[in-house]
Amino acid sequence: MSAAAAAGPTTSPTFSPTGTFVPGEPWSSGVRRGPDGALSVGGVDVRELAAAQGTPAYVLDEADLRERARSYRRAFETAFAEVGAGVDVYYAGKAFLSVAVARWLHAEGLRIDTATGGELAVALRAGVPGEHVGLHGNNKSDAEIARALDAGVGRIIVDSLVEVERVAAAARARGGAPAPVMLRVTTGVHAGGHEYISTAHEDQKFGLSLATAPGAQDEDSPAMTALLAVLAHPELELLGIHSHIGSQILDPSGFEVAARKVLELRAALAARTGFLVPEVDLGGGYGIAYLPGEVSLDPDRIAKDIAASVAATSAELGTPLPRFSIEPGRAIVGPAGLTLYTVGTVKPVRVAGGGAGPEAETFVRTYVSIDGGMSDNIRPALYGADYHAELANRLSDAAPVLARVVGKHCESGDIVVHEVLLPGDVRAGDLLAVPATGAYGRSMASNYNHVPRPPVVAVAEGETRVLVRRETEDDLLALDLG
Ligand code: LLP
Repeated sequence: MSAAAAAGPTTSPTFSPTGTFVPGEPWSSGVRRGPDGALSVGGVDVRELAAAQGTPAYVLDEADLRERARSYRRAFETAFAEVGAGVDVYYAGKAFLSVAVARWLHAEGLRIDTATGGELAVALRAGVPGEHVGLHGNNKSDAEIARALDAGVGRIIVDSLVEVERVAAAARARGGAPAPVMLRVTTGVHAGGHEYISTAHEDQKFGLSLATAPGAQDEDSPAMTALLAVLAHPELELLGIHSHIGSQILDPSGFEVAARKVLELRAALAARTGFLVPEVDLGGGYGIAYLPGEVSLDPDRIAKDIAASVAATSAELGTPLPRFSIEPGRAIVGPAGLTLYTVGTVKPVRVAGGGAGPEAETFVRTYVSIDGGMSDNIRPALYGADYHAELANRLSDAAPVLARVVGKHCESGDIVVHEVLLPGDVRAGDLLAVPATGAYGRSMASNYNHVPRPPVVAVAEGETRVLVRRETEDDLLALDLG
């Protein structure tokens, strides 16, 4: 939550009074406000979308998503080519994955990073070649490992010493070529918006630490031990070292610090064994704008900075540059999506303003209930994430009110937008659009309160295409065996 949200009705710069809609971040590039005041996405009027698809609905701007994929690929390929290194962009499917999206990204030259057997199944169903798919996971099942090997995935990112043995055993049982593995390390670099989404500090479940135990300088770090274990297995091919430092990162210096640590580990392994690890994966985490006035990381700038930094580090270490890969998820799909809701109950609530004693000031917060909530966007409840909302079906010149956009679930924490100015005449039947919900919206959606999950509808050049249909109560009841 922003400081403003905690403090009450301030004129925080994150406020954007309705009616002042400006195209651009945090909206996808295809969002416009038409002459009669309604928003459109990719040439489709939101009123038409809502009438045809119902609400809530996740709306994905295909052209915007593809352009973001292209710009990440172009930016990194260009910047890394300038320092003499190759790079692959893996789209992190956890942000949102469907067969169509996997196909679009494959067509744009991206590869797909999966974190479970389920995500792997979607990538394979989409026809993405196995060698362009990676499999992550801190607790892969035998079935997931077997499926990845059978599909001929390009990399399994191994997360523990135990898993080195398990992947080796599975590869041995199959015979054939050694299984290509990367080892996920934790560099101690802590970056990103919230503790739960920051993954490379030490006290968490992912990867193997680069740090040795205090007072045990002559012992190998868990990361070095695991690298040596991979090299000792003829069934495994040590393809790379992987580092993911967190998510929604807006200060890019963490990538450079983490990359240095990984390159140092690579040089230390080479000095020890003569084996130079061919690839380094720097993970995902590139931050985006959620609110008006915020700015997403610029892929051109960050690619140049990281490329220059890894080139300098490699020169200093006297090791040739490896091939690189990155795994953006949010930065590709997040800004391309918005959620469309219908307004229901609108309720003014008098709230204490934080003053002391009986004279405490009060103010009115208008609770605007929409037909979805924490089941389609858990991020505000889980991370205190801030979102913006805009009246989408009409313009209004009513004086703005301080509003909180809430869902229909049985929880007071069921909040989609903590605070936003909406026109004072916002009423049942209006449409609200919440931008930047393309990542970790549908992919983290639940059926809390037996609410069916919304569809994902793609729009492009005035055409609408349902990528994932709306769930029905029958879908939910079909799982209930009575
Ligand atoms: N690679 C690895 C190994 C990851 O664990 C993640 C995200 C990514 C790539 C993609 O990160 P991105 O570029 O999308 O930031 N559910 C949270 C974020 C957790 C992300 C976990 N891993 C959220 O809603 O913010």
